[in-house]
Amino acid sequence: MNEAINNIIARRSIRKFKAEQVSNDLLKVVLEAGTYAPLGSFGEKASYKITAVNNKAKVEWVNGITNKALLNIKVDDSTNSRLLKPIERAKQGNAQFLLNAPVFVFITNDMYENAMADCSCVIENIMLAAASVGLGTCWINIFSRLNNCPEIRQMFNELDIPAEHKAFGCIALGYPDMEIPAPCPRAEGLWKIVV
Ligand SMILES: Cc1cc2nc3c(=O)[nH]c(=O)nc-3n(C[C@H](O)[C@H](O)[C@H](O)COP(=O)(O)O)c2cc1C
Repeated sequence: MNEAINNIIARRSIRKFKAEQVSNDLLKVVLEAGTYAPLGSFGEKASYKITAVNNKAKVEWVNGITNKALLNIKVDDSTNSRLLKPIERAKQGNAQFLLNAPVFVFITNDMYENAMADCSCVIENIMLAAASVGLGTCWINIFSRLNNCPEIRQMFNELDIPAEHKAFGCIALGYPDMEIPAPCPRAEGLWKIVV
């Protein structure tokens, strides 16, 4: 195998990070790799935005607002069932939704038809680039369900994320503080070659 394929195979989600901050120079390289992802807007300018918070105190601020937003959600029959566990965790006190990572990255976009696909390609590029330079990442999905919470909109505003943007995915990022697990065996039948 070549190095690129080995890197794809070796990348794993990392959920425990060292406190060590990532240099802005290294982070730039990784985020820039994200921008080389394929794009569904047919040659037009990309509409997504990558917003990286590279400051532990600010990441904690984001986590605090996430807790607040969850605590303010009124639970009834219309509540997204995937938010019920996070709401319970928030009620228990200062849950770590961002995995205590030193860096947290929002990938946001407007609502054009390929918005989610574009963001997913950017996220995968970032995760692979990060793995290739010894950084760990984990996709964090909770913000895709909190986009309409007033606390989250206010935070996006303070982070300069456009008002018409939603978070389609986020990334916790930092130096791994755990062994990188081996990949579990892939299921049979996920691909087929037709000749
Ligand atoms: C769309 C998507 C959403 C995910 N959301 C979360 C999440 O909110 N929290 C989390 O810890 N992992 C999340 N993950 C990571 C998956 O759990 C992980 O990729 C999967 O278990 C396979 O493990 P691996 O990445 O180590 O190969 C998400 C992954 C994807 C693709």
